[in-house]
Amino acid sequence: MQTEPIALIFENKDHLVRGFTEYFIKLGNGKSGVFNVALSGGSTPVAWFNYLAQHHLKDDFWERIHFYWGDERCVPPHDSDSNFGIAKKHLFDHIPIPDENIHRMYGELLPGEAADRYEISLRQHLGQLPVFDLVILGMGDDGHTASIFPHEINLWNLDKLCVVATHPQTGQKRVSLTGMAINAATAVAFLITGRNKAERVREIINQETTAVFYPANLVNPQKGTLHWFLDKDAANQL
Ligand code: 6PG
Repeated sequence: MQTEPIALIFENKDHLVRGFTEYFIKLGNGKSGVFNVALSGGSTPVAWFNYLAQHHLKDDFWERIHFYWGDERCVPPHDSDSNFGIAKKHLFDHIPIPDENIHRMYGELLPGEAADRYEISLRQHLGQLPVFDLVILGMGDDGHTASIFPHEINLWNLDKLCVVATHPQTGQKRVSLTGMAINAATAVAFLITGRNKAERVREIINQETTAVFYPANLVNPQKGTLHWFLDKDAANQL
């Protein structure tokens, strides 16, 4: 049974990034062997990537960490929109992580092919019922998470690990993990900053009636922990 969600509130993004790094290292050191982490996309993780790149962790930590993604835009890896490309530019290019530890979604493929290929890859690397040690998530101001948006909230509960989703405004195709993959994780952590997220954060953490419309509200690791890493702006309605 899931423990109660824990909200951790930080003065600003820098303090959040430091606090999350402490959490991340403690989680990684608490796991023997491979530490499997799914990264979120968007802009919030960039501050964390930059911090990690400047504060090199011990080389052996990077040797046993494997990075996956919670979602990817259906663009080539060198595209400025690519979640993999952003992580490569701000983190992977600055740390001694073996290439084989990076498991990107192939955004350059047809969306359906990319989703199917990632599902196969997850099952090959993590088993038939993949259990991430940590899934890192962001949340949009519309309450989406990974790339499951409110207008397609039904995708969350599909009997699949990966699906093709569509951005509601741009129509951009995305590959996204579903609730089946995310809620099986041992630990899930939201990294959320900014006043524009505050209303959604309040509605979901306080379980207000409107929370049911938001995919981020469906994050509920069945046997894992859920932490909300918030800056003061994102938490200012709590
Ligand atoms: C993506 C993300 C998405 C993101 C939120 C928050 O690929 O865009 O995975 O879920 O985490 O949109 O994005 P920001 O961090 O830019 O606010």
